[in-house]
Amino acid sequence: MIYFLIVGNHGFCNSCSLVFKYHHIHYVVSIKFLGLANPWVIDVKVISDIYLVGGGEYGLSPVGDWCNVYLIDGGDELALIDSGSGLGVSRIIENIVSEGFDPRRIRYLFLTHSHFDHVGGAYFIQKLTNCLVLIHENEADALEKLGEETLIKYSNIGKISPPKVNVRLKGGEEFRVGRHDLRVIHTPGHTSGSICIFMEVDGRKVLFTGDTVFARGRIGWFNTPGSDLNDYRESLRRLLDLRPDVILPGHGTFVLHNAFEHVKLLLDKLNVPWKFVITILD
Ligand SMILES: [Fe+2]
Repeated sequence: MIYFLIVGNHGFCNSCSLVFKYHHIHYVVSIKFLGLANPWVIDVKVISDIYLVGGGEYGLSPVGDWCNVYLIDGGDELALIDSGSGLGVSRIIENIVSEGFDPRRIRYLFLTHSHFDHVGGAYFIQKLTNCLVLIHENEADALEKLGEETLIKYSNIGKISPPKVNVRLKGGEEFRVGRHDLRVIHTPGHTSGSICIFMEVDGRKVLFTGDTVFARGRIGWFNTPGSDLNDYRESLRRLLDLRPDVILPGHGTFVLHNAFEHVKLLLDKLNVPWKFVITILD
């Protein structure tokens, strides 16, 4: 059994996962990165090499931490999509360990945009794993300075520590994560720096959509700093061209087959006259 000792202002405990005292200082705990898995931890293998490791809607993170967090298993390397609000970091790490993965192999943490519910855990995950944090250049400053684009003033989780941004994305970049290739797609609309991550798994086109596309074409916020309805429509047209089979959104259920139909549904909703858009939010 291997123990990894964290010494600092923040701590996580693999044995008492409900405790996450990030408001407190002088807190020292150990984390079992390998060894016995917690029998209470249940996580979800969504499709081959992709796991849901965080998300309050699935009971994988505490109530209030609603962002889905996905793990990509590339073999010798791992990647995370989003980090949750911060409330669920210990649970996320537990879930990763429970599946038999060593969190220290996480090379990349892709942040789909800078809203607090997606980035609040990034600081701790970066500290724990030394992974690279990537976000679109349009929102990198907002994240590091916790600007208004992060919607931090609407957060009910208290203080957030911003991570250091290692890579400022433009869109179009490709990253290798072990045996998988990931492509960054800039999809402004929900926010100016929203990105989706595209990859192919077993011949299926998989799209991590953040808050840009949800199942059933549910519409996310687009009346917040940086959001733009025309950009949103254009981004959806480009995503539709990809004809994704699978979409893995930042909230709610994922779609495992013919996911492009859900993108089309959303685009159809956004193409009606504005006065009708506000009546069909779901
Ligand atoms: Fe968002």
